[in-house]
Amino acid sequence: MKKRSTKNWFKDWANEYDRTLGKIKRHHKLLDLAVERSGVKKNDEVLDIGCGTGLLSLKFLKKADCRIVGIDSSRDMMSIFKEKIKRLSLEKNVSCKFKDAVKIDFKKDSFDIVASTVTLHHIKKKDPVIKNIHKILKPGGRFVVGDIDIDTTGKLTDIDRLTRLLDYLKMELVLAMKEGGVDAFNRMYDNGKKHILNDGEYCISFKQWRELCKKAGFRKITVKPLPDFKWFKVLTAVK
Ligand SMILES: C[S@@+](CC[C@H](N)C(=O)[O-])C[C@H]1O[C@@H](n2cnc3c(N)ncnc32)[C@H](O)[C@@H]1O
Repeated sequence: MKKRSTKNWFKDWANEYDRTLGKIKRHHKLLDLAVERSGVKKNDEVLDIGCGTGLLSLKFLKKADCRIVGIDSSRDMMSIFKEKIKRLSLEKNVSCKFKDAVKIDFKKDSFDIVASTVTLHHIKKKDPVIKNIHKILKPGGRFVVGDIDIDTTGKLTDIDRLTRLLDYLKMELVLAMKEGGVDAFNRMYDNGKKHILNDGEYCISFKQWRELCKKAGFRKITVKPLPDFKWFKVLTAVK
């Protein structure tokens, strides 16, 4: 099976991201819940991992006059965010860095909040990344993950695994068509196939996320689902 790298996938998606996934309400609800659960306040230093076109970062800034560092491994996704930063004169509040999450090299105790929405599931080996996130958070700082609660580990030919994924995708694709139209459906359909085939998408359950955070030394770990979309959850954990 020919696989496309995550970088190329987002290079291709960048120009239509905001008018496909960005049109789907439950995506915005997930980001809103992440911001709410973060407890962000004025002057907080926030790291947005996989900032993409800036949808999450902009919601943080709407909530509080904080400072954001956005990192992403796709120049094309980030260039759309950079245009927004310029257009909205947010240069004082936001800086963007082209960086892979597996190569985070910020100093120890740098951030009040490290947040990431629908990004960390692109990383197969999550342990070292979570440990690094713990390191760069200030004591008492919060890690916030918004993602899909679905265990996609195991054999691709496992029918229980496939059924679980198809249950989620059924609702995901219905909402994509309803709220984003044909283009959003088309994109999310292709994305769904990548989830099924573990082609750059490696979702784990929030039970597994919780264990990873515990192992990395986090405390006060809480998980909150979206009220009307059980597959989407936000985990918060304190250093
Ligand atoms: C689905 S988008 C999410 C964007 C934004 N957080 C949101 O919720 O709308 C995933 C983003 O993560 C980025 N990404 C994927 N793997 C990454 C990695 N290993 N390091 C940094 N960014 C990554 C992609 O380039 C893309 O911009």
